[in-house]
Amino acid sequence: MSSGYFRQNHARYLEELEAFLRIPSISALSEHQPDIRRAAEFVEGQLRQAGLENVTLIEGGGNPLVYGDWLHAPEKPTLLFYGHYDVQPPDPLNEWISPPFEPTIRGENIYARGAADDKGLTLILIKAVEGVLAATGTLPVNVRFLIEGEEEMGGEHIERFAASGDARLKADACVICDTEMFAPELPTLCIGLRGIVYGEIVVRGARQDLHSGVYGGAAPNPLQAVAEIIAALKDRDGHIRIRGFYDRVRPPTPQEMRAWKNLPFDEQKYLREEIGSKDLCGSSGHSLFERIWALPTFEVHGIRGGFTGDGAKTVIPAQAVAKVSLRLVADQQPEEAVAQLSEAVKALAPQGIEAEYRHLHGASPSLVNPDNRFIRAAAEAMTEIFGKETVYVRSGGSIPIVGIFDQHLGIPSVMMGFGLPDDNLHAPNEKLYLPNFYRGIEAAARFLELAALQTG
Ligand code: BES
Ligand code: MN
Ligand code: MN
Repeated sequence: MSSGYFRQNHARYLEELEAFLRIPSISALSEHQPDIRRAAEFVEGQLRQAGLENVTLIEGGGNPLVYGDWLHAPEKPTLLFYGHYDVQPPDPLNEWISPPFEPTIRGENIYARGAADDKGLTLILIKAVEGVLAATGTLPVNVRFLIEGEEEMGGEHIERFAASGDARLKADACVICDTEMFAPELPTLCIGLRGIVYGEIVVRGARQDLHSGVYGGAAPNPLQAVAEIIAALKDRDGHIRIRGFYDRVRPPTPQEMRAWKNLPFDEQKYLREEIGSKDLCGSSGHSLFERIWALPTFEVHGIRGGFTGDGAKTVIPAQAVAKVSLRLVADQQPEEAVAQLSEAVKALAPQGIEAEYRHLHGASPSLVNPDNRFIRAAAEAMTEIFGKETVYVRSGGSIPIVGIFDQHLGIPSVMMGFGLPDDNLHAPNEKLYLPNFYRGIEAAARFLELAALQTG
């Protein structure tokens, strides 16, 4: 199919993307439930407009899944397209140059929460299918869409649905646009993701808050305890000190390590432009890509407790809570990591302190075989549209559905990346590079044609 059809529709694609981005569908904040529904209904309308059939919201406790299909290509493969319509909270608000839910174009980028994660990229898949159907009256493969609204909060609706054995999940591969290109203009397929274990370390000391002068020296301090526990869980070299935690870690193959060495990458530029700290951290014996793609991590996301207002208050708080996560790599298992972390936290509680790990959500790590026929088709499509050889990378982030589909449906995921490393995912001033939006649509459309040629 020629690219003319798509070019003629750029203005409309952009308007629709803007309408999608104006909906503050923040899954983590319950006051945005009405926006979650509006976003689900927006996607529903998009799937209908694209010419999909059996379009419906799937309710089931939690935010609705949006489903649609087109199954009129007998003997051809069936692809299950996945994306998410929920977004991260936009805070800190004062760091946004333009408001997070008022999409604004500056240069060749569109700025808004969800632009790259994942509304823009989800729309790429919908517009590709819409375009091929509109221009040719048919599709070269069977497609299903399953767009969720709980990805950013680790929700379980989609996992329950995947485990239910619903016939609408029958597919040969899953296709996901929720990852990044390694560098601008460089077509990229992601073949590995880290898993995650996310929860809280809850620490209790005295029955109630106490005067720190009167009781200091006798009463245990939960904030001090939380600091000690966290410090004991990871050493200064970035090594996680939990018994047995590394036992299942599968090292990358020598071929993969060699391929990573050949990626166009400047570590100093990365430090300067993406991180902006004085230095990088992490295990000194491992390359950067091993550290962010092939090794697990332990991170602290926030610590709550005690007095944090202006001025001074002399108090020994009764309780402290730290939000923490572990990122996991193949072949680590979330359930086992939860057990190991719980055990470690309990054992590290200082005298007079009770400490426990309270689990919130988890996801398995994933590694897909790049020799898969659909991954080959995707690589070819991206190479054609971007005019460069497609590279294979992993990502340190997590997309729970990849592991879920692997475990429950036994299907591989093709992860075509159209975000860029500086898109500010989960951060202020999230953006999407518009040329990638338009070319992504063409690449996904070309992928449909090439996927149809794959047999066996
Ligand atoms: N799209 C991201 C994950 C991602 C980012 C993959 C960049 C590859 C490159 C996804 O929306 C995300 O943020 N996932 C969460 C998962 C979690 C809340 C279960 C994550 O990784 O923190
Ligand atoms: Mn995402
Ligand atoms: Mn995200």
